[in-house]
Amino acid sequence: MIIVIDGPAGSGKSSTARAVADRLNIEYLDSGALYRAVTLIYIEANRDKEVFFELLNQKEISFYYEDQTFYVAIDGQSVTNELRTAKVAEFVSEVAALPRVRSFVNNLMREAVIDGLYIAEGRDLGTAVFPDAELKFFMSADLEERAKRRYKERKSKNPEITLEEVKQNIAERDLKDSKRKADPLKKADDAIEFDTTDVTFEQQVDKICSKVSEVIEVQN
Ligand code: CDP
Repeated sequence: MIIVIDGPAGSGKSSTARAVADRLNIEYLDSGALYRAVTLIYIEANRDKEVFFELLNQKEISFYYEDQTFYVAIDGQSVTNELRTAKVAEFVSEVAALPRVRSFVNNLMREAVIDGLYIAEGRDLGTAVFPDAELKFFMSADLEERAKRRYKERKSKNPEITLEEVKQNIAERDLKDSKRKADPLKKADDAIEFDTTDVTFEQQVDKICSKVSEVIEVQN
């Protein structure tokens, strides 16, 4: 069974999905982390697409969720700490717009969720990857609020970063993610829309947990 949360950057998808996964003891899948890992390979290939696709074919990407962290490894080597750098943030939407990359990541995800109960988050999970998901959410919030949240999150690891830079990166990615031809960021018709601008984190988690619990009960 799969529950999906889609939405733009900083809308609260990851933190909410992780909290829901922990509270209800279900598995968590971070599709953005997989696009970020693929972007590391793109950077290794110096953004040469031919070299990149060759490397992508050769490498094995593995992942698991534990202790609030979604771990990703390339050929058995952890890249978890490299996924959230400014360089990856700069190129990830360019990489995620490539149809071959999308089918590569979609296959990884579909294979992962064959058994068990999962909550997954991304941009196109309810529309393109898991159109038959049992429950779909689309989270959003004002750009200003999303930038503030992301800035707060990043500042401790990267003290040089400014709110303006974060806001600009988020706005650029939102635009690229919504305008691309291949599986753009879009609310599925049957997704529950959830604007989190004026909602506390606890309220967010409570609301999603109660809906998820209802669906799990019905399925059992
Ligand atoms: O955490 P944040 O929402 O900022 O980003 P993320 O979830 O780590 O996703 C990083 C990027 O991967 C997004 O800006 C998209 O370009 C891409 N992505 C995508 O295209 N489709 C998904 N299902 C998930 C992420």
